[in-house]
Amino acid sequence: MSAKLKLGILISGRGSNLQSLIDAALDSDFPAEIVTVISNVPDAGGLKRAQQTNIPTTVINHKDFDGREPFQDALHDALTSAGVELICLAGFMRLLTDSFVNRWLDKLINIHPSILPSFKGLHTHERAIKAGVRFSGCTVHFVRPEMDDGPIIVQAAVPIHQEDTPDALAGRVLIEEHKIYPLAVKLIAEGRVSVENGAVKIKNAVNPDSAIINPS
Ligand code: GAR
Repeated sequence: MSAKLKLGILISGRGSNLQSLIDAALDSDFPAEIVTVISNVPDAGGLKRAQQTNIPTTVINHKDFDGREPFQDALHDALTSAGVELICLAGFMRLLTDSFVNRWLDKLINIHPSILPSFKGLHTHERAIKAGVRFSGCTVHFVRPEMDDGPIIVQAAVPIHQEDTPDALAGRVLIEEHKIYPLAVKLIAEGRVSVENGAVKIKNAVNPDSAIINPS
């Protein structure tokens, strides 16, 4: 069997998306393995999830550094020395500047709780409900220097209900996040994903035929 793609996961919080990747990687057929989990928040809940599965963890607290560049240099060094080949941002709530993003270009992916390019930034569910759109969802994309920008790998669409609350919608979107993040990693690890003219192409992609209409 060929070597598994080495993942470094960056977190800031509870780590439910990290958990979905941990669970996927427990399957011996999954083509990627998590070699390190790094948090910028010392008491992030996700650290315990990694420790429970004996994945090495490191805290690199941005508050210990004099600015973004030295913080990012420390991240880069930790990721490099762990042998990371693909970085997965999983609820990592620090903006990364051009220097870091360009060093890891097309080796750095993020999950965001909206159908990008709509609703970049924070409070996505509240804003989607307020805007009256009929669908929200989630996106896994390659990271570019602009926030929540970059070639899209996988998206899931989630219908918004008439009486939805941001929390209820967030819960339904999160269920899909936990499916699409492992899927995106699998596609990359299988060597099926390329970026051509700023957009992702997937070898042998299977696309659904039918549309979802809301309200039905
Ligand atoms: C997830 O919903 C993720 O999509 C979002 O933060 C949450 C982290 O949850 N990320 C962003 O908003 C990044 N722009 P988790 O810690 O349970 O994975």
